[in-house]
Amino acid sequence: MAPPSSDDDLSIFPATARRLNGHLWLGGLDLVDLAREYGTPLHIFDEATLVDAMRSFRQAFATRYPSVLLAYAAKAFINPWLARLLAREGLGMDVVSAGEMAVAHDAGFPMERVHLHGNNKLQAELEMALELGVGRVVIDNAGEIGQLNQLASARGLVAPVLLRVAPGVEAHTHQYLQTGGHYSKFGIPLQGEQASRAVREIVASSSLRLVGYHAHIGSQIFDLLPYRDNVARLVEFAADMRQQCGVEPLELSPGGGWGIQHTPEEDPPSVEDVAIAITNALQRAASAHGLPLPRLILEPGRSIVGRAGVTLYTVGSIKDVPGFGTYAAVDGGMADNIRPALYQASYTAMVANRVDEEATATQTIAGKYCETGDILIPRARLPRLRTGDLLAVPATGAYAIPMASNYNLALKPAIVAVLDGRAVLVRRRQTYADLVACEVR
Ligand code: LLP
Repeated sequence: MAPPSSDDDLSIFPATARRLNGHLWLGGLDLVDLAREYGTPLHIFDEATLVDAMRSFRQAFATRYPSVLLAYAAKAFINPWLARLLAREGLGMDVVSAGEMAVAHDAGFPMERVHLHGNNKLQAELEMALELGVGRVVIDNAGEIGQLNQLASARGLVAPVLLRVAPGVEAHTHQYLQTGGHYSKFGIPLQGEQASRAVREIVASSSLRLVGYHAHIGSQIFDLLPYRDNVARLVEFAADMRQQCGVEPLELSPGGGWGIQHTPEEDPPSVEDVAIAITNALQRAASAHGLPLPRLILEPGRSIVGRAGVTLYTVGSIKDVPGFGTYAAVDGGMADNIRPALYQASYTAMVANRVDEEATATQTIAGKYCETGDILIPRARLPRLRTGDLLAVPATGAYAIPMASNYNLALKPAIVAVLDGRAVLVRRRQTYADLVACEVR
């Protein structure tokens, strides 16, 4: 992993990031030119880094385990351009709503590689999943069993399902990002009888076919031990259910959640380490329980798109506050990236138009929205900022765009993909007409 380094380190930027003529370049393009052409705030994806993340992830598992599906977690970010790339690279997709299903379907994504999650799937979403031929519905609660069975039966279908359990594994991450504890709102607790009751009910349902089990423990996790525990608990439960109900677990999914670097100081495991930990734990547990190796389903979101994304802002007002320091405000903030305000997530920045200048000042990078908590970076060590400077914030590819809002009636930024010296606009910036498009006058 990257050694600790200064704020101006390129290691957490996309792999094609370069310093050239005093500017920051990505994918063979000068960010100063991109800002001029598309305006700011601007989300930029480096396609080479993105595709490399998909391939490295696949490769790390494929070389260690016989049957793997990477079902990319669309909630981290999805649009038609990304859906087409995922399809081309052979990934699947984990979706959680009619909206995400619709994007996948409209992009021509192979729906048999799509898995529908959700702790409260709407009837319309279950119907849509059946009609579009979604590969797996992941049952999250007991009520869904009868409901889906009835909907499938009415259509003359047998729906393949996974059962999501809450394994009682606490991962070390922000409490909002933990999902595997006994009291989680997601999944049926493994502790007690509810999960085995659910298995019996699914097995007895004529229009459902239980394919296996799922347990996702959380997000932005660096420690691999909870994954080993999670896999061991899933396999133990699957073996127990085989004995009690005669159902063979053909697929197992420990979810997603692998962390990435948002700052150079963070030290997540490599994708090889992740693959080794999970495949070893699964092979060991399956052999201990005499189970044939199930197909392994992984749902990485952030670790696929996170590093490939950079957000570019323009610095506006600069304010020296005696007794505090300097605020440099940018033309975006919590409306395009709520993660610092919501999770106290840390980011760094680089002055894209003056990359060779020394970091001589500590400044607070503030957003432009009407919240005191709208601070992007509390203490950024950078050259002294001036109005008009361009700030590039790396590692924003996951969970910034999909969590964006129109707070203060901000316009959601454009998204540009860069590759080999070419930029493609994959989402235009919103307009004021978009903001009022749903208003009834
Ligand atoms: N599978 C399931 C069932 C999930 O709930 C999630 C994320 C994932 C996979 C993908 O996790 P990833 O590999 O991306 O960590 N908004 C938060 C993250 C919420 C994640 C929710 N579930 C953030 O900005 O950090």
